[in-house]
Amino acid sequence: MGASTTSHLEEETDMNYRRFIEEHVREIRREVGSAIAINALSGGVDSSVVTVLAHRALGQQLKTIFVDNALMREGEPQRVARTFARMGIPVQLVNARRLFLKALKGLTDPEDKRNAITRTFYKDVFGKAVRTSHATFLLHGTILTDIEETVAGIKRQHNILAQIGIDPQRTYGYEVLEPLKTLRKDGVRQVAQLLGLPKEITHRIPFPGPALATRIVGEVTEDRLATVRAATAVVEDELSRTGAFQYLAVLLNDCATGIRDGKREFGQIVVVRCIDSKDARIASARKLPWKTLHRICRRMTAIPGVNRCLYDLTPKPPATVEYI
Ligand code: XMP
Repeated sequence: MGASTTSHLEEETDMNYRRFIEEHVREIRREVGSAIAINALSGGVDSSVVTVLAHRALGQQLKTIFVDNALMREGEPQRVARTFARMGIPVQLVNARRLFLKALKGLTDPEDKRNAITRTFYKDVFGKAVRTSHATFLLHGTILTDIEETVAGIKRQHNILAQIGIDPQRTYGYEVLEPLKTLRKDGVRQVAQLLGLPKEITHRIPFPGPALATRIVGEVTEDRLATVRAATAVVEDELSRTGAFQYLAVLLNDCATGIRDGKREFGQIVVVRCIDSKDARIASARKLPWKTLHRICRRMTAIPGVNRCLYDLTPKPPATVEYI
């Protein structure tokens, strides 16, 4: 295909996404009217696009909250709030750390953990925020892939309320609007760029809703979160330049014998995963240079209590990307 044809196609796509933005801003305005709408921002590209679209449509009628669930990466809540403050969009930080940690206490089964997070989010934290804001509309960043995977039974997406038996209208008295439900991830990224969102958001690697809890096998405690958070900071620092689809660190539930300061230590095990993929449906492990792996291993085993670091070579399938 010639260069002029390619750029013609790009222009056309660009125009389609501009039209998408105009139409959805108008549509949100029409649906919400003079009511109040609320949305939860996670800092991911989907919820960020919804926030900007809805803010354009509704201005002060939109209440955006960011829930600090204690499961985020280092400095993440502050970083997200700062990014949106720079764009003139107010974000209310809700500290729900204790509630989430209490809900997760003693749970080891992956589905129990995911359920506890979903319920705490929607029933306790978000329910309260909706009641106090008097919002009658909720804007949600559901995309086409979420719907397809949920319908196919591949995934119990955290963001589909009906799946956990919650009828939002009856339970909370609000109506759900999903302006991105016809788009896939690449479309959302294009819209994000056109809306002027910074690169750190438009090109952010996928990060799951249940956050670092998906990377802790066994019980989620404050101490174990601190370990996986430190390990995540290492992989992100070491692997962000690889251009891989996703990279992450996982804390296993097992321990292994090691030696530290001349003494035997029954220490923790961190697994590193770095994958290539188009849309996370299938994935393969990246062939990382030996030198990089050694450096990561050295940094991981400097985290207090960690004395082993493994690199996961398993493709998806049979493995999934996350560990729970
Ligand atoms: P799995 O582990 O199912 O992950 O192979 C596929 C992709 O989805 C992300 N992921 C999630 N994203 N909520 C999300 O928003 C979730 O509950 C969730 N679980 C997994 C994962 O990071 C990978 O990119």
